[in-house]
Amino acid sequence: MKTILITGGAGFIGSHVVRLFVNKYPDTQIVNLDKLTYAGNLENLKDVEQKSNYNFVKGDIVDSNFINDLFKKYQFDSVIHLAAESHVDRSISNPLEFIQTNVVGTFNLLNSAKNYWSDNFNGKLFYHVSTDEVYGSLGAEGFFLETTPYDPQSPYSSSKASSDHFVRAYGNTYGLPFVISNCSNNYGENQFPEKLIPLFINNIRNNKSLPVYGDGLFTRDWLYVVDHAKAIDTVFKNGKIGDTYNIGGFNEWTNIDLIKLLCGIMDEKLGREQGSSEQLITFVKDRPGHDKRYAIDATKIKTELGWEPSLQFAEGLEKTIDWYLNNKDWLDNVTSGEYQNYYQNQYQ
Ligand code: NAD
Ligand code: TYD
Repeated sequence: MKTILITGGAGFIGSHVVRLFVNKYPDTQIVNLDKLTYAGNLENLKDVEQKSNYNFVKGDIVDSNFINDLFKKYQFDSVIHLAAESHVDRSISNPLEFIQTNVVGTFNLLNSAKNYWSDNFNGKLFYHVSTDEVYGSLGAEGFFLETTPYDPQSPYSSSKASSDHFVRAYGNTYGLPFVISNCSNNYGENQFPEKLIPLFINNIRNNKSLPVYGDGLFTRDWLYVVDHAKAIDTVFKNGKIGDTYNIGGFNEWTNIDLIKLLCGIMDEKLGREQGSSEQLITFVKDRPGHDKRYAIDATKIKTELGWEPSLQFAEGLEKTIDWYLNNKDWLDNVTSGEYQNYYQNQYQ
């Protein structure tokens, strides 16, 4: 029986990946390793926690002894590494945490995998899940390709870029079999309400102001999280060792257009007069070093591996809004306690 280590499986994307793998591969043991930071929530996995091929381990990837012991105990065949500090605004106020988890944590996993697998790399795989933000910021034209030089601009993207470099270095230097994918902005169920879409859904629900950074004309490419999980499965099974795959939604929006679309759907769902949620929009001070535009060219994964997004944005957004409105307890739980301090500091 094969055993896969999935790190960060209690987080937003990780929980969708764990669910997909546990259900799709009943003959494979899935070990979900997560520190359960503010962003990790085992409630996200309630529907799979009783499955016989699912195991949860609480732990920190920054602790190298712990990671070594885990490799000895479970004898992993593969790693899918998602654990990270993931929010740009938090990386601006506390960059060290990002270096610890994203750089040192990734290094520890690479080192354990290399040492543990070094007798025979055959059939082993280290899959590193990364972001399009490592490529920096685009002007009005152009797209990120797998060959685009790295040019990270925030402490978050710098830490992810650094971890990507270490993964390639371990492949090049020690022969560690790896793949990397770099994905655009995800949205969907179970995303912590500090990122744009769930934050604004929650604020509209509570009639709180919608803090739009700068002029709101920043552009992101959005992908439904379940489509990302499926792309990860595709790359895991069929990706070429040593290759990189860009994953995106072919779906670019300026923030302000996206927010207006969101406001319209929310008005409808909440039975409010059309236009009322838009009244909550407040332009606030810009994020320092705010990347202007991200846009992924996902042709490679489409043509070589046959993956493409399954959902249109309007459909995905509606599903997402429905989930948050039907899971108010989830939202209320994660927005109590520490979240209040974060919100106060971030938005004064
Ligand atoms: P998230 O913040 O929702 O979840 C991260 C998870 O990692 C949490 O469960 C947290 O508890 C865990 N974690 C954090 N530090 C840890 C540590 N030291 N040891 C063990 N576990 C730890 O993040 P996400 O949005 O699900 O992102 C997952 C991965 O995908 C990240 O590597 C991120 O860089 C990448 N990514 C995210 C997006 C996006 O739009 N969210 C886009 C592209 C790539
Ligand atoms: P975010 O969800 O933080 O993702 P990222 O910065 O990794 O792309 O932000 C998406 C966009 O929304 C980004 O341009 C910043 C902007 N934004 C706001 O305007 N206001 C907010 O309160 C937040 C959290 C983000």
